[in-house]
Amino acid sequence: MTVRVVLGAQFGDEAKGKIADYLAADARYVVRSGGGPNTGHTIGLPEGVVVLHQVSCGVLRTGVTAISGPGMVIQPFKLEEEILELERRGLRRGEILLSDRAHVILPLHELEDAWQDSLRAQRSPGSALGTTRSGIGPAYADRYARWGIRLGELSRPALLRERLELLYATKPEVPDLPPIDDLATRLAEVGSRLDPMIRATEPIIWGAIERGEPILLEGAQSALLDIDFGTYPYVTSSHPTSAGALMGSGIPPTELDAAIGVAKAYSTRVGAGPYPTEDTGERGEHLRRVGGERGATTGRPRRCGWLDLVLLRYAARLNGYTSLAITKVDVLGGMDEIPVCVAYRLPDGSTSRDAPPSRAEDLAKVEPVYATMPGWPEFHARAKERIRREGASALPSTLRRYLDFISEETGVPVEYVGYGAHRDETVTLGPPTVRRHRSAMTAWSG
Ligand code: IMP
Repeated sequence: MTVRVVLGAQFGDEAKGKIADYLAADARYVVRSGGGPNTGHTIGLPEGVVVLHQVSCGVLRTGVTAISGPGMVIQPFKLEEEILELERRGLRRGEILLSDRAHVILPLHELEDAWQDSLRAQRSPGSALGTTRSGIGPAYADRYARWGIRLGELSRPALLRERLELLYATKPEVPDLPPIDDLATRLAEVGSRLDPMIRATEPIIWGAIERGEPILLEGAQSALLDIDFGTYPYVTSSHPTSAGALMGSGIPPTELDAAIGVAKAYSTRVGAGPYPTEDTGERGEHLRRVGGERGATTGRPRRCGWLDLVLLRYAARLNGYTSLAITKVDVLGGMDEIPVCVAYRLPDGSTSRDAPPSRAEDLAKVEPVYATMPGWPEFHARAKERIRREGASALPSTLRRYLDFISEETGVPVEYVGYGAHRDETVTLGPPTVRRHRSAMTAWSG
């Protein structure tokens, strides 16, 4: 397969960094195409845990090129720190390239992000989005207003200064902006240090496609945080979908060979917004504790709950998944029964399996209808060792039933299963046997 995309299928934090790293073993290029420092992709390496924010996981493998693509918004000072930290740990193995078209997140965007969220809270208590405060929304807004600054412009001091002045003029309301002279100097300096990595990346990718070299697009954020198709306004400001990943890397849609949706065997959400299957009781707390559910970027505790097949079917249709990766199945180990949401009961008493309400306030009012699945034993070290040796045949039969249920309900085959944080704790069930579009559509009766 030449071009594959791996994408979050829920609200983020599905352990897609780990799955991307697993798939990167077969890739020549790994491309990030959206988001920026709001991302935290955690990967358990033999050398220790690494969390990547603005660099793709291709950097961890010799012979692989890690591209931070045109659709990203990049905070150059944080990026430089991330690269230096990788070097310090001896983990900068693949080449890093940065798209000259990617937009720059400035300190003023971070201030503006915090200011906007506090303004929301002041106007209407409880309406803050709980962003990661990394400046994502303001940087994308400036990009679309066409006064953003791109990475390729950091090496043009006169142009950079002109752009900065215009940008500052657009933000009279944001308090405590840093002095423009100082910022211009620091940006030019960081720009010159990053310059050897800054390129037009799309011709490089097109060349790879022509040569048939395998490319992995590493999605960040997730389907339900999509600016249009997520739970607006409780979303991020990019398109974390297959279409968005292609657009954000300059790859034509006709070149995509596979789309892998990553979902936890349960679910989590960080930040505000509707979450029908949230469990605020003891069992939710159990998931948080056993699953180590804290934001990799912000350290905030994640809200926890159950797998929502209504939303997963929706994500499957939106993205055209060819297969699914179901992660963190070990976290559910030892539970007698596992609830799975198969439909919503709407306030008028009717039920819906397929189309989640498009308005966040309506989604907040649905009542999940649960099926109960039998649980599986805890994943002790010996059980993990057996899976490593024998592969998928060593997975507990009740877990296989759970995975089959997900496939039947979504119409998308489960191809990968994650059963621990470590790089090698992923098992392949076999290549997908059903064609993506037909399979995802079959499960869709709406
Ligand atoms: P922003 O992307 O920082 O603007 O945050 C908008 C919403 O998306 C907030 O609810 C964040 O918690 C959420 N979000 C953004 N990036 C991630 C991520 O990588 N994982 C999980 N949630 C995220």
